Amino acid sequence: MAQDTHVLDRPPEGASADWTIPQNWQAYTAEEHATWDILFERQAKLLPGRASGAFLKGLDALRLSESGIPNFEELSERLMKLTGWQVVAVPGLVPDEVFFDHMANRRFVAGNFIRRPDQLDYLQEPDVFHDVFGHVPMLADPVFADYLEAYGRGGVRAIELGALKQLGRLYWYTVEFGLVQEAEGLRIYGAGIVSSSAESRFALDDPSPNRIGFDLARVMRTEYRIDDFQQNYFVIPSFDELLRVTIETDFAPLYEEILPLPDIPVAEILPGDAVITQGTQEYARSRP
Ligand SMILES: [Fe+2]
Repeated sequence: MAQDTHVLDRPPEGASADWTIPQNWQAYTAEEHATWDILFERQAKLLPGRASGAFLKGLDALRLSESGIPNFEELSERLMKLTGWQVVAVPGLVPDEVFFDHMANRRFVAGNFIRRPDQLDYLQEPDVFHDVFGHVPMLADPVFADYLEAYGRGGVRAIELGALKQLGRLYWYTVEFGLVQEAEGLRIYGAGIVSSSAESRFALDDPSPNRIGFDLARVMRTEYRIDDFQQNYFVIPSFDELLRVTIETDFAPLYEEILPLPDIPVAEILPGDAVITQGTQEYARSRP
């Protein structure tokens, strides 16, 4: 889902030196294309009024509603015209420096396999639906496109500064599980939410999670759950503001300041938080 753990140290057989592999689009079966269509239809119905305007616009501009798993070459051609980004296939999770290098060069790495029909709601590794439906529409937005490139460049620095965990949390709470305040109300834009039928509802409607105004240092100190719905969502005021903060912040002194501080547990609310919704955490309590 995020650039988290990986098992391989070098590109597996058949992959290029930069870890990319051919998408092999012609090899998808009719059943695999049908799985995409089922997932697509379900989310497309759910997202108007829930997903951010930028996400819905991207979905449209990239013509992702066309039937079947998108062909990365055609998709990249459309995306390239809009924001200069491309989508490239990789074999599962790749090393952090590879992930960041692609991102800093406006290449989004995506898995090329799709979940099985009996796994529509559950998957351990990001598949093509999560990666393409979840992430790529936001890359058609010029501001978000710049943000992700800046993130990639920041990743390379974070490795040098020993702050990968902190920067990874920024990705988690924005790119994967971010909420944005729009004129019409709170909207979802994180790929982990928009690609999940259950979390698309939970993140906005459920009384359980906290919804807290975005603060860069706070976010980078906050732990997260990888195995269940989030107990905290962070809300950005706009994509412009997210990009501005990311570009204008000097991360080296910020890391120096936050690295000695304790991590903030998932559901905790701090005195300085801009609380939008204080969650009941009832959902988390009901889970094993
Ligand atoms: Fe993801």
